[in-house]
Amino acid sequence: MLTENSDQKMKFPGLKLRKGTVPVPIIQGGMGIGLSSYTLAGAVAREGGLGVLSSAALDRIVSQRHGRRFRAREAAAQDVRDALFLGQGGKIGMNIMVAVINQYEDSVLGSMDGGVDAIISGAGLPMALPEIALNHPRADEVSLIPIVSSGRALEVICKRWKRTGRLPDAVVVEGPLAGGHIAWRKLEEATDPANRLENLLAQVFEVAKNWGNFPVIAAGGIYTHEDIVRTIQSGCAGVQMGTRFLATYESGANEVYKKLLVDCKEDDIELATRPGSPCGMMFRVLKPSPFYQQALRREREPKCDKGYLLNKGNCPSKYENEKTFCICNGLLASIDLNQNEKELYTVGHTAHRIDRIMSVKELMCELQNIPFTQEEQTPKEVRAHDKTPLIEAGYKSQEISGATLIRPAAALNT
Ligand SMILES: Cc1cc2nc3c(=O)[nH]c(=O)nc-3n(C[C@H](O)[C@H](O)[C@H](O)COP(=O)(O)O)c2cc1C
Repeated sequence: MLTENSDQKMKFPGLKLRKGTVPVPIIQGGMGIGLSSYTLAGAVAREGGLGVLSSAALDRIVSQRHGRRFRAREAAAQDVRDALFLGQGGKIGMNIMVAVINQYEDSVLGSMDGGVDAIISGAGLPMALPEIALNHPRADEVSLIPIVSSGRALEVICKRWKRTGRLPDAVVVEGPLAGGHIAWRKLEEATDPANRLENLLAQVFEVAKNWGNFPVIAAGGIYTHEDIVRTIQSGCAGVQMGTRFLATYESGANEVYKKLLVDCKEDDIELATRPGSPCGMMFRVLKPSPFYQQALRREREPKCDKGYLLNKGNCPSKYENEKTFCICNGLLASIDLNQNEKELYTVGHTAHRIDRIMSVKELMCELQNIPFTQEEQTPKEVRAHDKTPLIEAGYKSQEISGATLIRPAAALNT
């Protein structure tokens, strides 16, 4: 599928959304919890790509950043507004995981309230997405984009979505080299050549052709400009990349996480299965993650006090530590939002190729193969719950009933 003798220099065509076009067809993939922070998504949008937030645990993150309590819907709206503010007119998406079941609907509607351009949804089949979105007045302005890992999954989604009169505006095809959760439950399946990204893309092209030929976006293991050229020449409308964006100053990962990203070797990257994620899908981790090490030794007592993955009150890691570990606690620790727990680092298969942390601007230039002019200042490293970048970009603070609220100057007193 992907041709070897591609033109090494190529100006990429824009990626058409339902409304408007993303000038550079590079989607910075959603990375929860708090890794694809508003600073990262805003910077990517500013450089012409699609900057994507993650809805996971935004209630906690945005409440900290804004100094008052936000529920899931309000938090999603605010995160989108903050990223759009830093994005200076660029396009912003929201990644919403089906597995975060309790907040799914609020996250969809809140993102739409906030002005999101696209909702990208996977970690399960997003069957109900159009039903929820079509209740919103902005339904016709927001692209609905499922993430799949097979042609069959896309077929099932299209059949269901058709009943609502809305088909996908594009589809992301995620292969087994991606970071975070991958679609497979067993190592033999994840490493089966039949499941290589190019083979999954071939299946998905076939299905997409029968349902209106919407754009197909490839994800998982895409690392260089040349990879993107080959992907686009194979018929894809764009790429979604996670690991490269994780290794930027603007991402929400903490310093230890970023240092480990630079230092890690291929052997340090592992697909966690037993114990693994309570979602049941394989979860790619950095083996030296302190939380993972603790989980391998079954030293962490089963405990879930966060509840994002609770399905009807149940998450296996609440009761046992033999088969699963509590990803919510480990992931929150790696963005400095959970002092009492050790840190859990997820990465893509290509993490060992990262040799330094760079700015989003430099990365976007490298990926497009265009000259990069050094910024006057290295972008500041901040976590997703830090408000400093908003204040520096022009938000003002205002004391209301003992709380310090921050908002764009024009919005104060409203
Ligand atoms: C650290 C990290 C966290 C991720 N978290 C999520 C997530 O919360 N939801 C999701 O749908 N995908 C998630 N992903 C997948 C990315 O959005 C993207 O599709 C994938 O990483 C692409 O592969 P690459 O890392 O090789 O570029 C994550 C990836 C990484 C690296």
